[in-house]
Amino acid sequence: MAKPQRKGELPPGDVGTDDCLTSYTHVYSPDLLKDQVAFITGGGSGIGLRIAEIFMRHGCDTVIASRNLDRLKEAAKKLSAVSGRRCLPLRMDVRQPESIIAAVDETLRELGRIDILINNAAGNFLCPAVSLSFNAFKTVMEIDTMGTFNTSKVVYEKWFQNHGGNIVNISATLGYRGQALQVHAGSAKAANDAMTKHLAVEWGPSGVRVNTVAPGPISGTEGYRRLGGPQGEVVGDFPSIPLQRAGNKTELAHCALFLASRASTYVTGASLVADGGWWLTSANDLSMLSGYWSSEKKRDK
Ligand code: HXC
Ligand code: NAP
Repeated sequence: MAKPQRKGELPPGDVGTDDCLTSYTHVYSPDLLKDQVAFITGGGSGIGLRIAEIFMRHGCDTVIASRNLDRLKEAAKKLSAVSGRRCLPLRMDVRQPESIIAAVDETLRELGRIDILINNAAGNFLCPAVSLSFNAFKTVMEIDTMGTFNTSKVVYEKWFQNHGGNIVNISATLGYRGQALQVHAGSAKAANDAMTKHLAVEWGPSGVRVNTVAPGPISGTEGYRRLGGPQGEVVGDFPSIPLQRAGNKTELAHCALFLASRASTYVTGASLVADGGWWLTSANDLSMLSGYWSSEKKRDK
């Protein structure tokens, strides 16, 4: 039977690899972030890389900061080539405050300012709670939650406190319904959602807005590959998602751009859910759990 045609707007284009877009049509004014500087954790891959690209295509210079400097350098070259803007790749571990301080100091020396902080770095994998080691839970909390606090605090102390700025945290909707195999990441992101509100309240008087984008499944990313589970990457239709499909990185970058820019000057402490309506209908069924357990057992043999 022929598939019914999808109705509604078409999503913006994207590529499934850590490459830049082959073409791009601006949705916002191309000078929306002109001469601003964005500091993006985990900006060398996946969603973070696309946020860097879309911001740079709107006139912004960027810093992309994470652990793998070789990958960051390669990404920075591609990003500058498509946008004509500066991209500074810096090695940094969000769990190590000293490395964040060094990266922020280097940013201010090289680029002179920071207007936007995107807390995008995260670590995740599927694992039943009972099999999760104490260190595994702690590791994800340290990257996702402490990493977001550590980076926000350093950028605030060194720049935002006196100049204002915008923080956008990348969260997830997986935790909203207690998704199986995700107690570590769901707990970490829930803490971040609370942090968004606390910091929005405390730092609002300094001219700092703090907001969250909460994605659902976003194709062409490490998160998508990892959370696809034993069935692997499910490409194509998602009949259980109201919008019937996975999201793409460009769509996420547009949400981050809205929250980081003058398009949203009176928005703070907010969470922008960008999951196609997925969490409202997600089955969170236990067959996924038992499928995962049986595949794990096979792997152990
Ligand atoms: C169970 C695991 C595991 C797995 C690691 N661990 N992988 N446990 N299942 N698949 C355990 C290890 O055994 C160890 O515990 C502890 O976690 C720390 O592991 P390390 O490898 O030493 O940690 P580290 O080198 O710091 O690497 C962090 C990492 C890694 C999270 C484990 O996968 C990573 O660097 N990820 C970054 C990229 C990523 O995950 N991208 C996807 C983001 S998507 P023991 O007890 O043995 O010492 C996303 C979607 C969000 O975040 C959805 C939110 C709800
Ligand atoms: P990704 O490409 O793996 O992005 C994660 C980034 O974090 C990597 O660039 C990694 O770079 C960096 N990172 C990890 N640990 C770090 C550390 N200790 N210090 C500094 N940087 C670190 O995965 P993604 O799927 O694009 O995920 C991006 C964001 O979207 C995450 O916050 C994730 O939780 C969220 N999200 C994704 C999905 C999805 O479907 N993909 C769904 C919901 C939410 P290094 O390895 O170089 O450190």
